Amino acid sequence: MLIRSFRLGDYIYIKKIWQETGLEQTETESLDALAKQLAWDSELVLIAEDDEKAVGVIVGTIDGSRGYFYRLAVDPQYQGKGFGRKLVEALEKRFIEKGVSRIFIMVNQENTQVLPFYNAMGYEIKKYFTLSKKIEGNN
Ligand SMILES: CC(C)(COP(=O)(O)OP(=O)(O)OC[C@H]1O[C@@H](n2cnc3c(N)ncnc32)[C@H](O)[C@@H]1OP(=O)(O)O)[C@@H](O)C(=O)NCCC(=O)NCCS
Repeated sequence: MLIRSFRLGDYIYIKKIWQETGLEQTETESLDALAKQLAWDSELVLIAEDDEKAVGVIVGTIDGSRGYFYRLAVDPQYQGKGFGRKLVEALEKRFIEKGVSRIFIMVNQENTQVLPFYNAMGYEIKKYFTLSKKIEGNN
């Protein structure tokens, strides 16, 4: 098992993983989010590899002392083997090196099955409302 920074050639594999785990967005949204994040800090988009195959992904971002991550996914055939933990831990390490003091994650309310994973990783549920507004014309 290897955790490394994202490379462009990973995109087709992680797109498939996002599809298979239900995290797929539109093609433009996925590419756009990734492109922005890679331009901002490519060290915060990490890939888990097994036998040179990309089997997991996590996308992180930093705003001041706050770290955020989203689109964490592991290929269903590789779940339960520690790849998710390794991805989160590797990103946390990079966050710490960059001065992050608290990490936030947004989880879809329907995705309750992922909560035991986050509990095992030391994350607790905070009570916030998430509000959002679409800016027309921008992806
Ligand atoms: C969430 C996800 C990334 C976890 O990846 P994974 O590789 O299967 O997780 P790991 O094998 O590293 O598990 C890490 C820990 O969480 C625990 N865990 C994982 N799933 C669990 C579950 N359903 N119930 C209880 N504990 C669970 C494991 O026991 C393990 O604990 P340990 O290290 O103390 O033994 C993976 O299930 C996934 O891709 N899910 C679909 C996409 C998704 O919902 N992503 C999150 C969006 S917010």
